[in-house]
Amino acid sequence: MKFNIFAVASGLFAPASALLRFGCSGLTVQRLDPLVNPGMNPSAHLHQIIGGNSFNASMPPETHDLAALSTCTSCQFTEDLSNYWTAVIFYRGKNGTFKRVPQMAQAGMEGTQGGMVVYYMTDALFDTAQKSTVTAFKPGFRMLVGDATYRDREQARKWRQLTYICMENQGTRAPETIGFPTKPCPGGIMANHRFPTCWDGKNLDSPNHQDHVAYPESGTFESGGPCPATHPVRLPQILLETVWDTRAFNDPADFANGKQPFVWSTGDQTGYSSHADYMFGWKDNSLQKAMDGHTYVSAPMLKTQSIAQQNKCKVPDMVGEDIDSWLTNLPGANPVV
Ligand SMILES: *[C@@H]1O[C@H](CO)[C@@H](O)[C@H](O)[C@H]1NC(C)=O
Ligand SMILES: *[C@@H]1O[C@H](CO)[C@@H](O)[C@H](O)[C@H]1NC(C)=O
Repeated sequence: MKFNIFAVASGLFAPASALLRFGCSGLTVQRLDPLVNPGMNPSAHLHQIIGGNSFNASMPPETHDLAALSTCTSCQFTEDLSNYWTAVIFYRGKNGTFKRVPQMAQAGMEGTQGGMVVYYMTDALFDTAQKSTVTAFKPGFRMLVGDATYRDREQARKWRQLTYICMENQGTRAPETIGFPTKPCPGGIMANHRFPTCWDGKNLDSPNHQDHVAYPESGTFESGGPCPATHPVRLPQILLETVWDTRAFNDPADFANGKQPFVWSTGDQTGYSSHADYMFGWKDNSLQKAMDGHTYVSAPMLKTQSIAQQNKCKVPDMVGEDIDSWLTNLPGANPVV
């Protein structure tokens, strides 16, 4: 079945199932990374962050309860005080300077400033039944998918489903590539981050923020593949969609000879360093209830807020560096390699 979430978002069909899809405005864009570089200000590269406003340079799991410490969230569901973040895409101009690429709201979420669209699924996106049971994350749970140091395709194959879509328009959802698109994308570039879906059932985190989770041992999450014995607990699949508004940077000359002009804030011009971080912060058992409920896209058991309210939730800039001029160097002076 060819699936188009644009059709879903427009309410063309609405089966009973447990799939959450919701918009989150940008909470902040700064060089902080409380998961990989806790306490470091600034961290290695620039991130764009969504979710609860307890986000900070240091968020030790023993003392930092996101759900208790946040007083607002940039997400539509107000019980979601989690944080989610990815690196940031820059355009590298002909004179070698860098300009931060803005983010774009998706159809039906117009007015959302920056941010991403978040999904929690119990089965593949195109599986309208969404019948499987999953175990929601526990307070203190964190994880990272992807590797900021990766620069080649073979390395990137370790990750399933960290992809790009060259958007012709708002509805484009295929094909997906694992490197940056190599032609101008009239509707922007969508970066997709799907997290692993099997948990060891014990550790809320691990030294590399990855070993406590795993992919299904055979097949995929989408095909209902079983979790390995080492990581037997089936989690919801989180998918983050970020649409980078590249429309102002679509000069065909920049795409000549197999080149393309975009770089991640890591300095990566291949796209293979794509990564995303998650810190669980849903209130009480609201996420489990939502996963167990039979809802699709809208979730009546969850409290929602308006886009205007989402846009108001911010955290202050704690780094104090210019990220918006035409920059001689990427923030952190990361070399383009
Ligand atoms: C971030 O942490 C610092 C140090 O603990 C604290 O002073 C500050 O208020 C926190 N900022 C926010 C926005 O919570
Ligand atoms: C580089 O190009 C951009 C876009 O044309 C321009 O705004 C900027 O001033 C240029 N910077 C330098 C140092 O020439």
